[in-house]
Amino acid sequence: MPERYLVTSALPYANGPLHVGQLAGAYMPADSYARYLRLARKDVIYICGSDEHGVPITVRAEAEGVTPQKLVDRYHAELAKTFDDLAFTFDNYGRTTLREIHYPLSQRFFTNLFKDGYVTPRETEQLYCENCNRFLPDRYVEGTCPHCGAAGARGDQCENCGRWLAAAELGDPRCKVCEGRPVVRKTTHWYLELPKFADRLREWLAGNTHWRDNVRNFCLSWLDEGLADRAITRDIDWGVPVPLDEARGKVLYVWFDAPIGYITSTIEWARKLGEPERWKDYWLDADTKIIHFIGKDNIVFHAIVWPAMLMGQPEGFNLPFQIPANEFLNLEGQKISTSRNWAVWVDDALADFQVDALRYYLTANAPETRDADFSFAEMATRVNSELADIFGNLVNRALTFAKNYLGNEVPRAGALKPPDERLLDFTARQLDVEANYIENFEMRAALAAALDIARAGNKYYNDQEPWAWRERDRARAETILNVACRLAAALSTAFDPFTPVAAAEIRRMLALEQPLSWEEAKTPAVREGAPLGDVKILIEKIDEGKVAAQLAALKESAGEGKAAAVETAEEKEKTAPTEEDMSEEYVTMDDVKKLGMVVAEVKTCERVEGADKLLKMTVDIGGEDRPIVAGIAPWYEPEELVGKKIVVVKNMVPAKIRGVQSRGMLLAAQHHDVVKVLALDGDLPAGAEVL
Ligand code: 2FM
Ligand code: ZN
Repeated sequence: MPERYLVTSALPYANGPLHVGQLAGAYMPADSYARYLRLARKDVIYICGSDEHGVPITVRAEAEGVTPQKLVDRYHAELAKTFDDLAFTFDNYGRTTLREIHYPLSQRFFTNLFKDGYVTPRETEQLYCENCNRFLPDRYVEGTCPHCGAAGARGDQCENCGRWLAAAELGDPRCKVCEGRPVVRKTTHWYLELPKFADRLREWLAGNTHWRDNVRNFCLSWLDEGLADRAITRDIDWGVPVPLDEARGKVLYVWFDAPIGYITSTIEWARKLGEPERWKDYWLDADTKIIHFIGKDNIVFHAIVWPAMLMGQPEGFNLPFQIPANEFLNLEGQKISTSRNWAVWVDDALADFQVDALRYYLTANAPETRDADFSFAEMATRVNSELADIFGNLVNRALTFAKNYLGNEVPRAGALKPPDERLLDFTARQLDVEANYIENFEMRAALAAALDIARAGNKYYNDQEPWAWRERDRARAETILNVACRLAAALSTAFDPFTPVAAAEIRRMLALEQPLSWEEAKTPAVREGAPLGDVKILIEKIDEGKVAAQLAALKESAGEGKAAAVETAEEKEKTAPTEEDMSEEYVTMDDVKKLGMVVAEVKTCERVEGADKLLKMTVDIGGEDRPIVAGIAPWYEPEELVGKKIVVVKNMVPAKIRGVQSRGMLLAAQHHDVVKVLALDGDLPAGAEVL
């Protein structure tokens, strides 16, 4: 039995188009992960859908003057299309207004919790607008901030001083819809008594040692601070009705029904398949691993509230196995804000950039362990100098050569030589490295590992000079090209999780019907003698004009500020002021001298056996030879460095790296994927001090 996985991405609110920040957080890594699992021949389904209830929807519908249903119909279709355009591989993209499946299950969740005493009613006071005849959600109220006195503070936060508020604290509160003066009224809500799950949650979290530290520690400290009861009903008329007579007119809180959408979307998938019970394999069979990909603002709901909801059901639902939560993506140095229109909408980006270009950049620059910044100029640089120059170029060079000089068919292999074998061995090892990273949810590193295969391929191709053999020894030229095509087939698998369009293009050009599985890609076979498909440019370079145009459009639309009048709850989290430490740490001249940086001359340099990245060298630091080990083998041939004058920190703590002594550290600079050793601009004797 293959391992079984259920992969999900947070259900996006159907109240607007998708922007690149969302894509980078909960979507890109999940599609890559699901694609990888399929190639690794695991049993996997990838489930998502639109989140169609809640205040974010009603706010937007009101702003547009349409019914909530109309609004979600439109955006649901739009989101589904965007994901299609992005080559996403959801097995089902459902929606939470799917009444015949989603409503009864959500109500059953509520009833089960209620029956067992985990949900209890309580009377509270809330602002009510007598004009509009409704209780006002926090974001529908505005007034004077009790802290700083600013007018126009919202019911949950003052924009001026940034403090969090309760709507009832506002001075002179007003209904945002009708400008009327709301009154305080009593209302009853039903509360999920989270403290009753605290022990079980703690035990479960403590056992989740395979989680990313950021998520696990965040939850454990939440538990330490003590869980509070949470209202899971609302006084609005858009949502799943609360299944109690005494709660007529109330609906379930959107965060209560949204995660249930993961299950109902799976049920929908199973029904469409004609095997209506199949969803149970994923939700009830304990062998299935459920992986929820989310953004960091959704951690509490997925790692505390949702598991508690599941624990309170009699069916014995699987709890999440893993919750990879990404940090945020900023945009051109500022926080993304949909209300200020400081956002790049995926559809707009796809009008100018190839799907793979966008996917590549969002993965290469993924906000995995810290916030990242989306910049059009950087996207162009990385796509052009990495994806196009390294990956696209290799494939296009090889296939163009085969087309023009070797009869336009997949070249045949003759006798392999050591360089051919080394390349194929390296590829097999890299695929393992890449797989490991993906399984650890480190997509950036996985992508870099895939790119290293292409990089090695380019080096192989340059070194083997097939053009020089074409006339002298055609069989040799064919073998080199055969190896290059096998490499291209392996690259099609290695890149499929990240740049699936290019991956499929490679297969088309190589006349391969199926992608090679991850295992097959380690000893890639091609259809020798098959006619090649038309050879097309795999990755288009991004030109500066497009970068400038996108940037200008972004600035212009932000200036217009034509977005929703009221921010969504999701938005609030993302724009809340953060305490950024802007202070610079200064050092003195003494600190610099302490480093003992000197000019050193490289005497000998060689590879470290069994360590692909390492070079070991002997350097003269002025009358004394020192052994030094440095991780620069991917960027330098050992011979290139011999005789160079470089800079070394001579009083680095001595270390043994892979069993080799290292007594000093060589200085090098890194920009993305390129590393350059610091060398002297002119000549000075070894041992000269660096100041
Ligand atoms: O933050 C959001 O966009 C929510 N719509 C995510 C819901 S995730 C899940 F619970 F459905
Ligand atoms: Zn009103």
